Amino acid sequence: METVYFMKDEETDQTVGEIVSKDYRKAEVFKKYGIDFCCGGKRTLSQVCKSKNVDLNALKKDLLAIDKQPSMPSQDFNSWNLDFLCDYVVNTHHKYVVKAMPLIFEYTQKVERAHGDTQPEVVEIANIFIKVMEEFNLHMMKEEKVLFPYIKELAIAKENEKPIHLPHFGSIQNPIEMMELEHDHVGELMSSIRTLSNNYTAPAGACTTYKLAYAKLQEFENDLYQHIHIENNILFPRAIELENEIA
Ligand SMILES: [Fe+2]
Ligand SMILES: [Fe+2]
Repeated sequence: METVYFMKDEETDQTVGEIVSKDYRKAEVFKKYGIDFCCGGKRTLSQVCKSKNVDLNALKKDLLAIDKQPSMPSQDFNSWNLDFLCDYVVNTHHKYVVKAMPLIFEYTQKVERAHGDTQPEVVEIANIFIKVMEEFNLHMMKEEKVLFPYIKELAIAKENEKPIHLPHFGSIQNPIEMMELEHDHVGELMSSIRTLSNNYTAPAGACTTYKLAYAKLQEFENDLYQHIHIENNILFPRAIELENEIA
């Protein structure tokens, strides 16, 4: 007989970000329903279902189905030290972005040159991607040069029970607020690319570069979701907590 799982009411009141923080596999379920779990991760399950007109019971059933599958406890970002988590984000997500951006730029520019006359959306996509590149390169630099070094300092200070130097930006909440606004903006830019590209669907008979450009943009967006999710829903709240603890 099939085991029936029930989701408690308090779990319905959890935010989407909290649910994905506990188990990243559940991000797939939210993607399926078109629910933003990274930038919009601070809304509860019930709130998001109401605003997106999603059937809460169907969503809960899909989330519970994930619980039945074996998980990978070693990938629990919540249990990692914050200095290690910063290094992880830089060495995986930032590194990927640095590598993927010039390639996607090249493909979108090629598609624009070849098809821009008849398909104006590819011109828009190429231009929006340039904005994504400019903004996100600067964003990652701020994280790597300012925010992450401070988070690492906090983590090391806690471990060695040493005092910390007060940063020029005051509380960590200030740069974090700025990073979250920038995440929102890049998320909006990528979502307009998704709409313009009809969910990354190249037209019938499209050339290889066209298909590749869309496939790479989709891959970029997927990576971006996980990247922003780790920062917004795990790294940043834990860093704020740690700063409060030490201060
Ligand atoms: Fe980042
Ligand atoms: Fe970020």
